[in-house]
Amino acid sequence: MTNNVNPLLQMQNIKKDFFGNQVLTDINFTLGEGEVLGLCGENGAGKSTLMKILFGMDVIRETGGYGGDILIDGQKVEFNTPFDALEAGIGMVHQEFSLIPGFSATENILLNREPCKKNIVSEVFGDRLNTLDYKEMDRRSSAAIEKMGVAIDANMVISDMPVGHKQFTEIARELSKDQLKLLILDEPTAVLTEKEAEALLES
Ligand SMILES: Nc1ncnc2c1ncn2[C@@H]1O[C@H](COP(=O)(O)OP(=O)(O)OP(=O)(O)O)[C@@H](O)[C@H]1O
Ligand SMILES: [Mg+2]
Repeated sequence: MTNNVNPLLQMQNIKKDFFGNQVLTDINFTLGEGEVLGLCGENGAGKSTLMKILFGMDVIRETGGYGGDILIDGQKVEFNTPFDALEAGIGMVHQEFSLIPGFSATENILLNREPCKKNIVSEVFGDRLNTLDYKEMDRRSSAAIEKMGVAIDANMVISDMPVGHKQFTEIARELSKDQLKLLILDEPTAVLTEKEAEALLES
């Protein structure tokens, strides 16, 4: 149940060890709707690990899970996979890229969520044979790119892009999801130029 009294996210006493190596000990923080929270820490401090816990990533479960509680809108959640987290409205842009190099920005942004339209064949044989609605794909990806206030070419293939544009494509992919409530960015400015980083922080 959503209500206005509970914060969007609470992380309570989060603990994590990897094979006995204690990486996180009693991490607590609260994040309200519309708030931006930055986590700072040196290399290996456990920032990515904390975000992987929140996003339900397999590596956390495969290495023995974590301690503590995560609450979204005041309700305790346990995300066993990133799909559970996505369903709850959490998006994540990873420190390492997760784009398909041979696809365009638009194709990556809408991957597995492509809008489709009916054609004569699919009228007969079913929706599996629908045609991709490229016009609608362009519209949705342009809208997401516009939100960031940067000029990336939606039709450019990822492998031809400068690294900063790849990062913006990943962010646009998350911003284009209707159910998005909370976006996790793991070191989003690390691969950006100073100018690109400023554009991102302003948007
Ligand atoms: N899958 C894993 N197996 C074992 N140890 C791991 C694993 N993932 C992370 N660690 C260890 O956990 C610690 C925290 O790593 P993590 O990547 O969360 O740090 P970070 O704060 O994101 O660092 P960086 O600034 O370099 O990205 C490190 O000591 C790392 O070696
Ligand atoms: Mg990290």
